[in-house]
Amino acid sequence: MSDRQAVSAGLGLVQRPRRNRKSDWSRRLVRETTLDASDLIWPVFLVEGEGRREPVGSMPGVFRFSIDVATEEIGKVAALGVPAVALFPNTDPRLRDEMASVALDPENLVCRACRAIKSTTPDVGVITDVALDPYTSHGHDGLLRGDEIVNDETVAVLTQQAVTQARAGSDIIAPSDMMDGRVGAIRAGLDAADFQNVQIMSYAAKYASAFYGPFRDAIGTNKTLRGDKRAYQMDPANTDEALREVALDLEQGADMVMVKPGMPYLDIIHRVAETFHAPTFAYQVSGEYAMIMAAAQYGWLDEERAMMESLLAFKRAGAAGVLTYFAPRAAALLRGRE
Ligand code: PBG
Repeated sequence: MSDRQAVSAGLGLVQRPRRNRKSDWSRRLVRETTLDASDLIWPVFLVEGEGRREPVGSMPGVFRFSIDVATEEIGKVAALGVPAVALFPNTDPRLRDEMASVALDPENLVCRACRAIKSTTPDVGVITDVALDPYTSHGHDGLLRGDEIVNDETVAVLTQQAVTQARAGSDIIAPSDMMDGRVGAIRAGLDAADFQNVQIMSYAAKYASAFYGPFRDAIGTNKTLRGDKRAYQMDPANTDEALREVALDLEQGADMVMVKPGMPYLDIIHRVAETFHAPTFAYQVSGEYAMIMAAAQYGWLDEERAMMESLLAFKRAGAAGVLTYFAPRAAALLRGRE
């Protein structure tokens, strides 16, 4: 007996997990989780004008598009199998005020974009954010009285905002404001306006996170935001509270729930998915995107592999899908593999 055989016999292993990993076909055969273009939602930043494609400095590869360019780009991404897009406006600073008036204007950037997208690519799901931050002069998601974000008055405005967006053709209303009771109020408002079939994807467990920084650059609230959002967004230390938030939103009529940010909160995604068995989405936020891209630009990470691994991790944790700025690139890669 050679020394090598002696060592192998000495271990006496019956189970050798590496046997299943020895070749690509075998790894594919035993794979538990898969990623598909239909799992992806593409967040799109909008800006006024025509033919515009403004790079977002802190998010290499991400742009603010004028509506004409956005519809073109959305058409391409839809052709790769991405089912839905989420719209975020960079409102002209001169139009922002204390009351977020423009949020209720049926001619605002988001409403015009909804109509344009629904007419050029009717088969793409359009998700619109309900929150006041792109429209307030102070950058908060709600109305400010003194230094308090007032809950119930804000909910009244959010409900009108949701109905305004539904009238423009939004398929899914996504409240990202974290006010109490907003999902129930929005559901009632939509139903009263005869939008029973408009869905609600609530940002149910949304944390007060440092990872939203680049997004605030993109929509132009980074410099204007007064204070922080800790009096309404969740404390990153909490997990039971996330379950209570999700339970409330489902009771009030949410069709789908979201956890945000994504990668630092995989435990929350997992608990929410296991507990409620409702469609649970993860938002891989701007700061997560920026981290991967920055490291890749330094040559410290393989961009493609890090992107695909991060997206797969959300599926493994239990997410039904992921909002991700990588959607166009990931979908193209997945398409290439078909
Ligand atoms: C605003 C909103 C935010 C994001 C989505 N909707 C930012 C915030 O709460 O300040 C963040 C998305 C991202 O960072 O990619 N209501």
